[in-house]
Amino acid sequence: MKIRVLGSGAGGGFPQWNCNCDNCRRLRHNDINAKARTQSSIAVSTDDTNWLLINASPDIRTQLETFPAIQPKQGIRDTGIKAIMLMDSQIDHTTGLLILREGEPLDIYCSEMVRQDLTTGFPLFNMLADYCTVNHHPIPVDGSGFEIAGIDDLRFYTHALKSKAPPYSPHRHDPHDGDNVGVIIEQISTGKKVYYSPGLGAFEPHVMRAMEAADCLLVDGTFWTDDEMICQKAGIKRAQDMGHLAQSGPGGMLETLNTIDNTRKILIHINNTNPILDEDSEQRQILDQAGIEVAYDGLEIEL
Ligand code: MLT
Ligand code: MN
Ligand code: ZN
Repeated sequence: MKIRVLGSGAGGGFPQWNCNCDNCRRLRHNDINAKARTQSSIAVSTDDTNWLLINASPDIRTQLETFPAIQPKQGIRDTGIKAIMLMDSQIDHTTGLLILREGEPLDIYCSEMVRQDLTTGFPLFNMLADYCTVNHHPIPVDGSGFEIAGIDDLRFYTHALKSKAPPYSPHRHDPHDGDNVGVIIEQISTGKKVYYSPGLGAFEPHVMRAMEAADCLLVDGTFWTDDEMICQKAGIKRAQDMGHLAQSGPGGMLETLNTIDNTRKILIHINNTNPILDEDSEQRQILDQAGIEVAYDGLEIEL
C-alpha cells in the first residue's frame, strides 16, 4: 500500500496565519531549518489510482493540486478520491469537505459521534445535502474490521481513543466512544499494517496492541511538552486539555515508542509551536537518535 501525507501539521498549520511564536516567526523570516506544513490529512491506496482520503483538511485544495496521482484523469469531472474517512469532527479534519462540494456524492466513513457533530454543532452533512450530498457509512469503535467499496485490498479496523471532541461539540467535556478514533489499515494480500492516530491522549491496552502489531506508526506528534502553548504564551490549554499526549517526559509518547521494536515510527499532526519542527533543534536530535521520524507534507510511505 501507499500512504501519502497530504498535510502533516495540526490545526492552524505551520506557519499559522496569526502566530508569532518562535517557529512561525522564524519560518516567515527564512531563519529556521524547517518545512512549512498544511493541516492534517493523509490518503491511502493500493493501486495509485483509487484513494481513501483520511480527514479532509481546510488546505485540501493545495494538497490535491500538489499530488498528481489523485487528480482528474478522464471525463470532464473526475477525482481519485473514492471515499473519505474521518478520525474525528475537528475543524482541521472536516472543513475540507466543503471544498469537495462540486463533486459526486461523498461516501463518508465516520463514527456515530462524528456524524452527530457534523449534523448539529457543525452541520456540514446537512449543508452538503444541497450540493454534492453525503452518503454516511457508520464505522465501528470497538476495533472490528470492515472494507470500503472502491478501495481494493485494504481492511480497516477502527477503535475509540481517549482524546477530545472539538470545542464546539457537546461531548467536549462529556466523552463518548467514537468522538475520536484510531485506525489500523491492513493490506489484505500482504498482511502489512499501518496504525494512524493523529489525536491520541492515552495509551490504552487496545492502542498498545495496535501499535505493537503495526509495521508503521503515524501517531500524535502535536506537542513536545504538555504546557507548550502556555509557556510560549500562544494559548491557555495544555496538550491534555486538547486530547493530545505530549512527546517528552514520563509517560510521554517517546517513552512508549521506545518500547516498540521493528516498526517504522513517524510523528504526525505537528503543532506550529513544537520545537521538533526545527530540524536543528536538540529535541529533533533526540528523535533522530531514537529512530523516530517527523512527517512532512508530500511524504510517501510504501509498505
Ligand atoms: C486539535 O487536534 O486539537 C486541533 O488541531 C485543534 C483545532 O483544530 O483547532
Ligand atoms: Mn487537530
Ligand atoms: Zn506558531
